[in-house]
Amino acid sequence: MRMAVDRRTHSLALTVLVHGGSARCTGGGTSAEAIGWTEAGVHRPFTPWRPAEIIIVDPCPALQMAASATVREPGGEGRDRPGPGGPHHRVAVMTWLITGGAGYIGAHVVRAMTAAGERVVVLDDLSAGFPERLPAGVPLVRGSVLDRDVVDRTLAEHRVTGVVHLAAKKQVGESVEQPLMYYRHNVHGLTVLLEAVVAAGVRSFLFSSSAAVYGVPDTGSVPESAACRPINPYGETKLTGEWLVRAAGKAHGLSTACLRYFNVAGAAAPELADVGVFNIIPMFFDRITRQEAPRIFGADYPTPDGTCIRDYIHVADLADAHLAVARRLAGQDGGGDLTVNIGRGVGVSVRELASLVGEITGRRVDPVVEPRRPGDPATAVASVELIGKELGWSASHGVRDMVASAWAGWLARHPEAASHRSSPKL
Ligand SMILES: NC(=O)c1ccc[n+]([C@@H]2O[C@H](COP(=O)([O-])OP(=O)(O)OC[C@H]3O[C@@H](n4cnc5c(N)ncnc54)[C@H](O)[C@@H]3O)[C@@H](O)[C@H]2O)c1
Repeated sequence: MRMAVDRRTHSLALTVLVHGGSARCTGGGTSAEAIGWTEAGVHRPFTPWRPAEIIIVDPCPALQMAASATVREPGGEGRDRPGPGGPHHRVAVMTWLITGGAGYIGAHVVRAMTAAGERVVVLDDLSAGFPERLPAGVPLVRGSVLDRDVVDRTLAEHRVTGVVHLAAKKQVGESVEQPLMYYRHNVHGLTVLLEAVVAAGVRSFLFSSSAAVYGVPDTGSVPESAACRPINPYGETKLTGEWLVRAAGKAHGLSTACLRYFNVAGAAAPELADVGVFNIIPMFFDRITRQEAPRIFGADYPTPDGTCIRDYIHVADLADAHLAVARRLAGQDGGGDLTVNIGRGVGVSVRELASLVGEITGRRVDPVVEPRRPGDPATAVASVELIGKELGWSASHGVRDMVASAWAGWLARHPEAASHRSSPKL
């Protein structure tokens, strides 16, 4: 159950998840009983797992007064759940299904949301995730989003009210070699999940998208309105995913968000670090550990030092952005989409990053320059105006924090890297 105040209409809105039965709410001398829920102005009887909205329109003083609510479930003697609270008091929390919650970013989202008091359940097939990343007490359902039965059961058993969908395959190179596998997990898996979500009456849906939807952007600072022209199957699956999410949201009254992450880096704790060597920072660490010089692909780009410029975002900031978006979606009526970039709006060149890696790891890092890789734009930096305007959100960690925390995570898994303090090849 959640309670929110609309300051313009001075109304109290209670959203109550009721498994059949009725909900009663009193506040500020007013009381209302709901025996159904309202969607697009149409009153409907309760159905299992549907959120019920009770709107109490009250004069302003009522907002200062305590409100109380009771949810009565069917056959419910002794099962009433009273919830006292004022206008800003959250009587109870949503339950969020976090798919891919045992993965690198997902585990950070789980941590941020549980730390903020949200209730979560994780669905992960553990193809690339680790259960030990999850905080104690967070339920983990081991299964695939491709499996409709598992998804249905999870939504019902945990009374899920919102979904954060991160489960996906994410390697660009692999997507070129195995596009069908990418479309199966990232697009078909999303379709299965959305069908289950719509059938279960879930109201909020956040989707992990990527700056890969832009392909090679025309401008250095990329706004959400930039043309989306992905250049590999991975990016295509993310763009198709956005279309699916928005279309389902529009047709079925879901509130949706598509979050386009830029270059994610760092870790909130060493045990949560990314274990893959697909992004530039782990690639640098990997070369250092092998006592080989890090590689830079192209040093003749039209940028100040000739190397590519990217926008790096700390994964802990990214997780906080998920929390902010989740709360926005949970607090709004069904419908509407928010598609936003998540980055810092700050460009860092590959050479700048290499020198920071040298400073933080205590190694001499003299990168070797290799030819450009096809499809690498000179500059890709997020325009972060929209997320700032919509949510008042901005990143708080700098690139130094990202490299330092990623290095701590790397050392935890590669203790041998600590002993290679200087290398003849570097
Ligand atoms: N890491 C990045 O830099 C980055 C950038 C942009 C977007 N993204 C997106 O963020 C999301 C999370 O990425 P990540 O870096 O944490 O990746 P990750 O591989 O660490 O996590 C993905 C998780 O999803 C699980 N998974 C995969 N397929 C599944 C399926 N069919 N059913 C259930 N679980 C499944 C994996 O076991 C893993 O735990 C992905 O959607 C990815 O495309 C990541």
